[in-house]
Amino acid sequence: MMAMADGAVRLGILKAVGSTPLVEVDFGFRAKVFAKLECLNPGGSMKDRSALFMVEEAERKGLLSPGGTIVECSSGNQGASLAMIGAVKGYKVIIVCSRKISAEKLDAMRAYGAETVMCPDTRLVTDRRNSHSVANSLSRKISGSFMPNQYYSLSNPEAHYLTLGPEIWAQTGGKITHFFAAAGTGGTVSGAGKYLKEKNPRIKVIAVDAATSFRATKGRPKPYRLEGIGLDFDTPCFDAGVVDETLCVTDRQAIGMMRSLASRHGLLCGTSSGAVAYAVNKHAEKMGQNDLAVMVMGDSGRAYLSKGYFR
Ligand SMILES: Cc1ncc(COP(=O)(O)O)c(C=O)c1O
Repeated sequence: MMAMADGAVRLGILKAVGSTPLVEVDFGFRAKVFAKLECLNPGGSMKDRSALFMVEEAERKGLLSPGGTIVECSSGNQGASLAMIGAVKGYKVIIVCSRKISAEKLDAMRAYGAETVMCPDTRLVTDRRNSHSVANSLSRKISGSFMPNQYYSLSNPEAHYLTLGPEIWAQTGGKITHFFAAAGTGGTVSGAGKYLKEKNPRIKVIAVDAATSFRATKGRPKPYRLEGIGLDFDTPCFDAGVVDETLCVTDRQAIGMMRSLASRHGLLCGTSSGAVAYAVNKHAEKMGQNDLAVMVMGDSGRAYLSKGYFR
């Protein structure tokens, strides 16, 4: 069970956030590889952890009170998690997203009762039309609103430091040697990675980025199809002091691996999971038989069926 923040009222389905399974995946190389199935969180991704932590922290600090509104920009998963939390706790939720979002993620947010605002898929965060800029200006206009601000708030990595990291350490009996996670805000890889490194500084923390993201191209990004993954912001949530290495993956590599995860391993996971599994395979030569790698499977392939990636 996810660590409960002081004074927070965790109701119904929200008690089911965290404690996701860790399963072995046989890629046929020397190191053992385990998949952390974050897609099995109730809201469909590891973003349940950051969203819930940030909402409860805001409640504790008096930044969000009954009848309040949550505004956030999201590639879909943080939005779906916030929408689920808003449904349970009675907050209005407005999610600003870019048009490349899958229909399934959009429909999920709407099913939970969230309002969605669509923005063009701009290349730079400084663009006024960008989902982050629009969410910011909306939250300034709406009184009683709270913006978790997953791209800039250090509460995002803290959520993973407090929950995902400890779970992985316990589930591997402290034997983990390599930690792989996709980076979008950088919260997952930096937060869980920091916890793991504190437990054992020899653990290698590997971030997986989109090959044409802002960071990967040193400020000259090109559009890519992968969702959730991609360091398109200069964000404090990405802790370069924790991350040992960043591996970049193309749409084609990630989507090919996503198909193989489903058809060969029975893991119907999303695009960022495909990218992470590709990176693990790329890194295989550097891992020996005493190594144990954990890869975060961020969300489910069911969120992308309409994109035709599995056809
Ligand atoms: C499916 C999925 N994987 C990976 C990520 C990246 O996680 P983080 O934002 O913690 O870096 C996201 C972010 O939205 C995501 O939705």
